Amino acid sequence: MSQLSMLAVSGSLRSASFNTRLAQLLAEVAPANCRFEVATLNGIPLYDGDLEEAEGIPEAVDALRQRIKQADGLILVTPEYNAGMPGVLKNALDWLTRPGEEMRPTFGHRPTALAGATPGAWGTAFAQASALINLRQLGVSLFPDYLRISGVAEKLGEDGASEELRDQLRKFVSRFSEFCAAGGGRD
Ligand code: FNR
Repeated sequence: MSQLSMLAVSGSLRSASFNTRLAQLLAEVAPANCRFEVATLNGIPLYDGDLEEAEGIPEAVDALRQRIKQADGLILVTPEYNAGMPGVLKNALDWLTRPGEEMRPTFGHRPTALAGATPGAWGTAFAQASALINLRQLGVSLFPDYLRISGVAEKLGEDGASEELRDQLRKFVSRFSEFCAAGGGRD
């Protein structure tokens, strides 16, 4: 089995975020051949063309970009806000496509999966659906399965994750690692 590197990016800045915990759990249950890292978006300023012109690409964006470029697989773990992805995640994706020639080497054909958790129903399905428009623009190689965790407060309580949740995540990350090993479905 070849070695793979995976990066899960949480779309929540909250220190007690369910989505960041979900990303960490994915890392815990990933197959042994995966070097799995978790990133957050803390420290990324709001995109502002004046800021870009005056100061260039912020360090936090550059650092995240390097981690994405090194990843054989990218998992965006997104909360759902008002049936869409949070602004901080969209903002990070926007920065990561600047300057324009960086879009393709950062995202083009990169095996990418969508995951998300919510205390509510529907498991962030609307946020993931809205993200598809952006991911298509970025040219990623999209994993056809989606990880949608509803009622997460019960499944990921203070006692930790339920065995059922761990099992669901283990299967998801294992299938995604196979997709990445195959180059994201490319010939
Ligand atoms: C939410 N939440 C939410 N949940 C959902 O399932 N569908 C939704 O449309 C929304 N909308 C929404 C808007 C705003 C502004 C907030 C702050 C929250 C609830 C959300 O899923 C919950 O706060 C999660 O705990 C956020 O994810 P993290 O921070 O725990 O990862």
